[in-house]
Amino acid sequence: MANMVMKVIGLVLACMVVAAPGAEAITCGQVVSLLAPCLGYLTKGGAVPPACCNGVRGLNNAAKSTPDRQTTCGCLKNIYSSNSGINLSNAGSLPGKCGVNIPYKISPTTDCSKVQ
Ligand SMILES: *[C@@H]1O[C@H](CO)[C@@H](O)[C@H](O)[C@H]1NC(C)=O
Repeated sequence: MANMVMKVIGLVLACMVVAAPGAEAITCGQVVSLLAPCLGYLTKGGAVPPACCNGVRGLNNAAKSTPDRQTTCGCLKNIYSSNSGINLSNAGSLPGKCGVNIPYKISPTTDCSKVQ
């Protein structure tokens, strides 16, 4: 019995080691903290703070795979719906202002399951 437990533990450890590099899925917490400096611009417009563009670039670099982009899409929709003051035309222009090309458009009606 103890032998069996050791085997299971060994297997779990092996899987953790294999899964660790590069497989870190993005979380909504990361998306929110990367974009937190953007909230002023998103709601009121004006100049885009450099910290915000760093966040946008960081997000773009972090969300390279389809599942990560779908997660990011869902998180952005959450951010939009929980911050009623967000101006969507500002949100749409943000990537361009930061010189980032985001290959999909995110609005509150985007179907995140279609994001590639
Ligand atoms: C959103 O921002 C644009 C330009 O920044 C502005 O023209 C428009 O009136 C704003 N819309 C709302 C609903 O505040």
